[in-house]
Amino acid sequence: MTAQVQIDQYQELMKRYNEIHHLGSIAQLLQWDQEVMMPREGGAQRAEQLAALQKVIHAHNTAPPIGEILATIDFNADWTDEQKADLREAKKTYDLATKVPADLVAEIARLEVLTTQSWVAARQSEEYDDFWPLFKSTLQRRREYADAIRGERCRYDALLDLYEPGETSANLRPLFAELRTQLRGILEKIQGSSHPTNPAALVTEYPEEKQRPFSEKVIQQMGYNLKAGRLDVSAHPFCTGTGGDVRITTRYNKNNFTEALFGCMHETGHALYEQGLNRERLPFPAGGAASLGIHESQSRMWENMIGRSEPFWEYFYPMLKEQFPTPFNNIAPDEFWRLINHVEKSFIRTEADEVTYNLHIIMRFEVEEQLLEDKLSIDDLPEYWNHQFQQDFGVTPTSLKQGCIQDIHWPAGIFGYFPTYALGNLYAAQFYNTMTQQLPVNELLSKGELLPIREWLREQIHQYGHTYAPGDLCKRVTGKPLSIQPMLSYLNEKYGKVYNFS
Ligand code: CO
Repeated sequence: MTAQVQIDQYQELMKRYNEIHHLGSIAQLLQWDQEVMMPREGGAQRAEQLAALQKVIHAHNTAPPIGEILATIDFNADWTDEQKADLREAKKTYDLATKVPADLVAEIARLEVLTTQSWVAARQSEEYDDFWPLFKSTLQRRREYADAIRGERCRYDALLDLYEPGETSANLRPLFAELRTQLRGILEKIQGSSHPTNPAALVTEYPEEKQRPFSEKVIQQMGYNLKAGRLDVSAHPFCTGTGGDVRITTRYNKNNFTEALFGCMHETGHALYEQGLNRERLPFPAGGAASLGIHESQSRMWENMIGRSEPFWEYFYPMLKEQFPTPFNNIAPDEFWRLINHVEKSFIRTEADEVTYNLHIIMRFEVEEQLLEDKLSIDDLPEYWNHQFQQDFGVTPTSLKQGCIQDIHWPAGIFGYFPTYALGNLYAAQFYNTMTQQLPVNELLSKGELLPIREWLREQIHQYGHTYAPGDLCKRVTGKPLSIQPMLSYLNEKYGKVYNFS
């Protein structure tokens, strides 16, 4: 085959993925609408819309001409790194899609809407009778899905690979075991500190109309282009879309300004990644993010390493004081910084501090493995959860909302995703460590100059999309494979200062 034939085939393939990409972005828009705009009774209809759309996408993904091209194209021809990655991802997508029956794809899409809607209602009424059967079906369909695609792998690994390509539970187990031990050690030092923090000092009224402009100021300074995005309110904050339409949501808590602010910085970290991808390559198979772990590294870095740092507040604290003279006129800057880094064992993952957060994730990883491998049923989940939680945190949740029903992921049928949060924290610390060696980060933060940081991330990470596997990207950026050490050094140094230990 001549080179020109190869190029023609590649282009034909990309033409097809271009269409698939746009269909996928329509599904994202429907999901955004569901969370932000849709009236409650629209759920049943939305379930059918998404089921129908996912069936169309599945038909495109399994189109025989894609299989014919992939069977004849020369993967070892003289391709660029980007083209090689496109072919790799195209093959992976095609192999995966052709293993799954269209009806199962549609049923999973339908159940995702119905079960999450039921989850929202059940949490409000604390009446779970309608929710449990839907939740059981959701898990059952996911097990079937995993069986369809897993080949030689266990179910868990088949699903984990969808979110964190190349990652395996066998690799995560020792990494998480060591991380858990180390985090417990740090937590013990904090709990033994003679210099505790009292976050009650931050509790007062923060009207939403005064919170919003401050959050907007921060995210615009981070370089989030609001002409290519928007900020709305939803029950569960998220970021969606790509290219010229990247949207984020937040929620306001009138007694706690940190929820919306750090939530906005988190979602903007995701949005900057999407806005920083090479726009021309967006519809290509390897044009999107490298993985959800890498995605989360961006959000967590902005939220925690930057947003909860001292130099960041050197610049922003005077502005915050102007917006909220009460309580901040009476809180010294260094005390403020300690308060926003308060560490405490708590029930809710999304409210957890940097030290305990990964303990929540590691526990979920173990529980969802049991669920997927038929070792644990939904009926036994609440009791099992409470038992595990008691072991890890020394307290037992008193309601389902505080316990196993707190996250939207499992009701949405998303199993095998949680590890990407812990990996995101680890990647964030390792990237941040490298960045501080190449940029005067603290100096920039203290002057409110956030754009050079966005540019560094863009140049080192965003522009490559999924050209490189997450582990390879990490080696390219930091010179080393992923390890827990940068995270542990970061936590020990920071919290040693907050809680006065060494
Ligand atoms: Co996130």
